[in-house]
Amino acid sequence: MNEKVVERLSQTRFLLVITGAGISAESGIPTFRGTDGLWKNYRAEELATPSAFERDPETVWQWYDWRRGIIGKAPLNPGHLAIKELEDMFENFLLITQNVDGLHARTGIRNMVEIHGNLWRVRCTREGKTSMLMDVPLKSIPPKCECGAILRPDVVWFGESIPSHALEQSFNILEQCDSLIVVGTSGAVYPVASFPQAVKDHGGFVVEVNVEPTPISAIADASLFGNSGDILPMLVKWLKEKRG
Ligand code: OAD
Repeated sequence: MNEKVVERLSQTRFLLVITGAGISAESGIPTFRGTDGLWKNYRAEELATPSAFERDPETVWQWYDWRRGIIGKAPLNPGHLAIKELEDMFENFLLITQNVDGLHARTGIRNMVEIHGNLWRVRCTREGKTSMLMDVPLKSIPPKCECGAILRPDVVWFGESIPSHALEQSFNILEQCDSLIVVGTSGAVYPVASFPQAVKDHGGFVVEVNVEPTPISAIADASLFGNSGDILPMLVKWLKEKRG
């Protein structure tokens, strides 16, 4: 493990962690841009859009039903558990996840922003009311609200805005944190793709964890290449040893 990384993290007062689909890959959940992310030859960008849903809600919901089926059975992996340990080790901590799978919540983490929403939550397309819908598989596709209107997953699709409260909380912490660990994201989707640079602009230290180089590698102070389920527990162990 990189000595500089352990040194800087051990001096950190506010730790921010950002995760993407890679953190859940070792739980058996397909990432978006890997070849395993394809579903019936559709790419995520073709399904996760308001226009795809308007045109064909049934196909979009079948894709979410497929993902919910995989996620519902997926176990937490050592990477998820290590992030919960980091929360317990730092007085000031926030996790911003782009994942909608809800796995981080299962670790009992308290300080988290699910910036792209959660696929277990649904929203009425008429009333905007949200509720949890845990059925796997869904009883009917597309699922309907009591009012008769179609429900949609309460997630942020391409071309939609991130809810303002999630964005405000994130921007606020980008200015306050002194270190960021960014895990398992391709750095292809904004605004989160711009967060590592924002942390750097405020003098923060940026560590990337990924199986391969990404655009974030060019600006990160350190890139640790490997599975997050191996690297994050190792990082926790080293930090504990450093603190004595
Ligand atoms: P991507 O699928 O674009 O990227 C996954 C990243 O995880 C890649 O950089 C992989 O190299 C890395 N990775 C894979 N396995 C890993 C492992 N075991 N350990 C560490 N890293 C690993 O997923 P995201 O960057 O999360 O948005 O995608 C961002 C957004 O695009 C998603 O939130 C979703 C998607 O379309 C919406 O649905 C709005």
